[in-house]
Amino acid sequence: ETVEWDPNDAGKGGYDHYMLKEIYEQPTALRQTIRGRSNQLDGRAELEELPPGAFSDVESIHLVAMGTSYHAAMYAQTLLADRGITAQAFLSGEYGSNPPPTDDGTLVIAVSQSGETADTLSAIRSVQGTGARTLALTNVVGSTLTRECEDTVYIRAGPEIGVAATKSFSAQVATLILLSERLSQDIHGGTPAATGDLLESLAVLPDDVQRILDESTAKSVAQAYHDSESYFFIGRDIGHPVALEGALKFKEITYDHAEGFSAAELKHGPLALVTEQTPVFAIFTGRNDTKTLHNVKEVRARDAPVVAVAADGYHEVDDYADHVLRIPDTHHDVSGILANVQLQLVSYLAADELSRPIDKPRNLAKSVTVE
Ligand code: AGP
Repeated sequence: ETVEWDPNDAGKGGYDHYMLKEIYEQPTALRQTIRGRSNQLDGRAELEELPPGAFSDVESIHLVAMGTSYHAAMYAQTLLADRGITAQAFLSGEYGSNPPPTDDGTLVIAVSQSGETADTLSAIRSVQGTGARTLALTNVVGSTLTRECEDTVYIRAGPEIGVAATKSFSAQVATLILLSERLSQDIHGGTPAATGDLLESLAVLPDDVQRILDESTAKSVAQAYHDSESYFFIGRDIGHPVALEGALKFKEITYDHAEGFSAAELKHGPLALVTEQTPVFAIFTGRNDTKTLHNVKEVRARDAPVVAVAADGYHEVDDYADHVLRIPDTHHDVSGILANVQLQLVSYLAADELSRPIDKPRNLAKSVTVE
């Protein structure tokens, strides 16, 4: 019997959806992202697009982005603060209409997978003429953003077709780890900030992601929790942007309500919503975990189901979680990428249980080119 050739199928490489293909492409994408940029011999990050010392006069950094890219920008804000660099992530849509003061000591980093997001383009245009330097961190060669920024660093994730960002977030964060290292080397006079194990953790990141994909423990979680009214995602430190990203992924493809919070925020209001009907995903990234555990106990006391995302070596949460999705032990800065891969799988599998049009969710576009 003749099988109709579906042109889309060829692009999906046998996966049911582009999103699943792109989740499983992450080890390959991350190898491309990192290749040639992490010199483990002398503990330096090397970004070929940027001449050495290019940023020695930078005094403060603004990161502008929307959606998933904004979560990557928030993640970078913490990485830069850890390296003694003043940095703040802004929603492009807010920044463009009311830009904070900038001058020739400011570096504005625009994070955008497509390089075409109107809000982010207008944010970059709003600082033209103020003396600020601009840098595009993007996945699309020759995109508008690259033409309007002085410097460009590519995340090299390969084409991302699914509307829901997956491999681009991982590649953005890996690139931002390398860029944070590079900026630290320039600003702090060349001393490599990276402890050797950071670059070692980056080197094994693709294999760590592969392990998570192979184990696919998220399937049992998605089967257990795919028809609740609402879902909470909580985390601290880099776990906060990962919680926001986990919630965004979940809501945009399952259409169920999901919300991310800094774990510290729960007691200041959101805890009023927590019942046995609100599964809570709690992200442990190896820093402030005791405080996150305290928040888990708070939601547990309200009978909420708890799914923890935690490293192999962390067991304090085991008695308080209905499920623990494990990630390999790794450097703090890299742990959020691994935790997010577990949450990508949970969202994809939950949406698949609900038979949602995963690659093209209602009302959404891959690139929002209008403000
Ligand atoms: C995330 O899954 C969505 N695709 C959306 O939030 C996206 O991250 C946002 O529109 C920003 O797009 P950009 O990275 O191309 O600028």
